[in-house]
Amino acid sequence: MDFSEIQRRTEKYLCPTYARYPLAVKKARGCRLYDFEDREYIDLLAGISVCNLGHSHPEIVSVIRDQAEKLIHVSNLFFHEEQVILAEKLTETCSMDKAFFCNSGAEANEAAIKLMRRYMKKIREQNRFELITFSGSFHGRTLATLTATGQDKIKDGFGPLPSGFKNVPLNDVKALEEAVTSNTGAIMTECIQGEGGIKHLSPDFIAKIRELQEQNDILLIADEIQTGLGRTGSFWACQSAGLEPDMITSAKALAGGLPMGALLVREEIARAFDAGSHGTTFGGGALVSAAALKCLEIMEREDLVQRSLETGTWARKLFEEVAHNCPGAIREIRGSGLMIGIELTFPGQEVWKNLLDQGFVLNLTQDTVLRLLPPLVIPRQDIIAFAGALEKTLSGSRTGS
Ligand SMILES: Cc1ncc(COP(=O)(O)O)c(C=O)c1O
Repeated sequence: MDFSEIQRRTEKYLCPTYARYPLAVKKARGCRLYDFEDREYIDLLAGISVCNLGHSHPEIVSVIRDQAEKLIHVSNLFFHEEQVILAEKLTETCSMDKAFFCNSGAEANEAAIKLMRRYMKKIREQNRFELITFSGSFHGRTLATLTATGQDKIKDGFGPLPSGFKNVPLNDVKALEEAVTSNTGAIMTECIQGEGGIKHLSPDFIAKIRELQEQNDILLIADEIQTGLGRTGSFWACQSAGLEPDMITSAKALAGGLPMGALLVREEIARAFDAGSHGTTFGGGALVSAAALKCLEIMEREDLVQRSLETGTWARKLFEEVAHNCPGAIREIRGSGLMIGIELTFPGQEVWKNLLDQGFVLNLTQDTVLRLLPPLVIPRQDIIAFAGALEKTLSGSRTGS
């Protein structure tokens, strides 16, 4: 099939839920994507922070092949080895004790919200069911997680929405304090907002969250679906943001491109789940668990968390030079590690398209923010090439100044 045929049949046979880029990807290797005319693109998006090791890493391909020969799926009615080793390894990366595996980020957050409610009811015997989240956040597309999400466009047309959710303006300390009632069970937050445009939590806001945890016994759920697994230059972003969550949710990069989500939680809270209270057919299956274990092994061996930190710090400096050379075009460069937002002073659709035409795949979020989430193994040379293309593009575009 050529591109126009794929596009025509996609429109005919698929629900129109995605605004797709004008690019059909035929194959991918390392930090490169290839279209149906064998044109090469530098991938600065990694499937939205999924392919942290690059595409089709030979060891991931090989572990998937070997595991598929051995055991793909058997159901959680049975014990299996890969899942338990993965749970051990993941809990060792943070101060959590137990894991629940599922298939996506939304499902991991859904599990966290359900567990918070059940823990408050069954263990603490309190009527604390309410979840506080922040404006600009993104937590998923199930009914509970879209209700938790702090963006109206995600909720449009899906009412009536479940009750028990409150949204507070990000970094508004007073509003957060006022939102807390005797019904508040937990706060859920990304450590750096991804879909929201690479936005950081202010130190005051973080201090307030910690105070509420300590003084009001409110739980903290860190949504690390985009920020976790080395993306921001620490294994979990909460570890460098000064947040101490009671639950961490993960997905995206967890299984090297295979669908997997996880909830990591402290022992005392995990006790609120019992057999039959929650579950999912595919969660923590042998194939995805084996791939996830291999990802963790490669991350550790190649020191990818540190590499993300160093490459990201270096890249942001390089982009500051671009900003300096293109006065009036860039409002701010934000991020941590290899989670980088370049906020333009004007809507970025044209710039984004121009960069795609030059062979650079990235994402535009919140109209003005160029979002970079490259594989953690991205060579500096690729970032230098992108910076050159960005400077050329911005020099030739409307700056809004
Ligand atoms: C912070 C965050 N939470 C939750 C989700 C939802 O994950 P999924 O699309 O796997 O359901 C995403 C996806 O982009 C995300 O970035």
